[in-house]
Amino acid sequence: MNRDIVCIGAGYIGGPTMAVIAKMNPDRKVIVVDINAERIAAWNSEDYSIPIYEPGLVDVVKEVRGRNLFFSTDIKGTVQQCDIVFVGVNTPTKMFGRGSGRASDLQYWEATARSIKEYANGDKVVVEKSTLPVRTAAAMEAILNDHASYSFTVLSNPEFLAEGTAIKDLLEPDRVLIGGPETEEGHRALEAVVDVYAAWVPRERILTTNVWSAELTKLAANAFLAQRVSSINAIAGLCEATGADVDEVARVVGADRRIGPKFLKAGPGFGGSCFKKDVLNLVYLCETFGLHTAAEYWMGVIKMNQHQQERIVSRLFSAMFNTLANKKIALFGFAFKADTGDTRETPAATVARLLAEEHVRVTVTDPKALDNARRDLADLSGVVYEADEYKAAEGADAIVLMTDWRHYPTLDWRKIYDSMRKPALVFDTRNCLDAAELKQIGFRVLNVGK
Ligand code: UDX
Ligand code: ADP
Repeated sequence: MNRDIVCIGAGYIGGPTMAVIAKMNPDRKVIVVDINAERIAAWNSEDYSIPIYEPGLVDVVKEVRGRNLFFSTDIKGTVQQCDIVFVGVNTPTKMFGRGSGRASDLQYWEATARSIKEYANGDKVVVEKSTLPVRTAAAMEAILNDHASYSFTVLSNPEFLAEGTAIKDLLEPDRVLIGGPETEEGHRALEAVVDVYAAWVPRERILTTNVWSAELTKLAANAFLAQRVSSINAIAGLCEATGADVDEVARVVGADRRIGPKFLKAGPGFGGSCFKKDVLNLVYLCETFGLHTAAEYWMGVIKMNQHQQERIVSRLFSAMFNTLANKKIALFGFAFKADTGDTRETPAATVARLLAEEHVRVTVTDPKALDNARRDLADLSGVVYEADEYKAAEGADAIVLMTDWRHYPTLDWRKIYDSMRKPALVFDTRNCLDAAELKQIGFRVLNVGK
């Protein structure tokens, strides 16, 4: 087996992961391929205008591109050249037919598996990086090994990186998980992939399991995280009703070492490409196996999340005298969290849509996600996109802070207040601004869970 690696799919998972693998394995050639030529051209661009924004990523690409990291559209040639094939193609939630709205759409994965089989000129280790439903590896192995001239071993190596901290998560992972079949070939393949990570990850943090455990662990880990966010948001509603303060509750609950302080921040609900998709996948799996109560349990996590955005708009409605028509509301932040331009499943989009239904004049501002916002809300007429926060706020009746961009607390809020229509309202859904200071300036202030 040679040591060179190809990754099919140059997206959020493939790009950063392979960049770090190349950085930490200078003796291996790492080639990222994609059917999207424009995307590959961006990865190869001379001015490093790479297709995704991720802190620290461009520095890694500058260091390794052309040294041992390459981007190419030549899928065939590259698959032939490398014995280890990572697959990081997109697996969105299926929006048609069986399992619509719940199951993963596996057409890209299957197309990829078929091209690997078609192009292969020797045995290959195929590593799932995309999040896939449990037992996909088995299905893929069946496709790959059916009347095949070569042998294919499918491993599962789910990615736990979070956007915005991807490079750090990759360089210092809590754990790396690799699942492989319990056969002699499987063990050999597993060792080959363990080797890739052992170049920088302490061996005890590289956990190996069987393939199905690895596939299910990815869903379970994201479902647990999403469930924590929904749990604290469920408490937030109660806090608002009773006069408790959700940040205080979270601080004390999180001080119990069995619970821990992370992922207890109340807010507008979780977004991002993974949480909803993975929880829905889990729901679909439970239903498939007749575990209806478990399916309902996990579905509750999603329902709670949607409810959170509806609640934000309801509270705005009451606070703005039960009419929003023709009022101007500026959404501060459109990305699903800070430090990313990604807007997939962003709560801000749901809030923008709910506001548009009320005939609000919506203005969106975001330092990194304005182009994506324009694309995501293209069907809504009248939305204004404004990069400058001060201009976005001019004449507005309310500001709804949706994303916890670090510079928002440092804006000149007095200047913002002066330019707004009175009474001026700030709904800080991330609880990241200094509410006392805002009130002193003259703002009416709403928070989540207070
Ligand atoms: C997540 C997982 O963390 C990662 O391990 C997995 O591989 C992919 O999915 P990501 O979606 O990039 O990563 O972001 P994350 O930081 O986990 O946040 C997800 C969402 O939850 C964001 O919208 C965030 O604002 C929200 N969140 C997170 C909260 O509302 N409160 C919290 O306490 C934490
Ligand atoms: P993820 O977040 O899972 O990385 P992205 O959508 O960011 O998802 O990236 C997936 C990438 O996979 C896209 O750039 C897409 O063009 C690529 N892709 C999808 N299907 C194929 C395929 N059959 N062959 C090669 N690349 C593919």
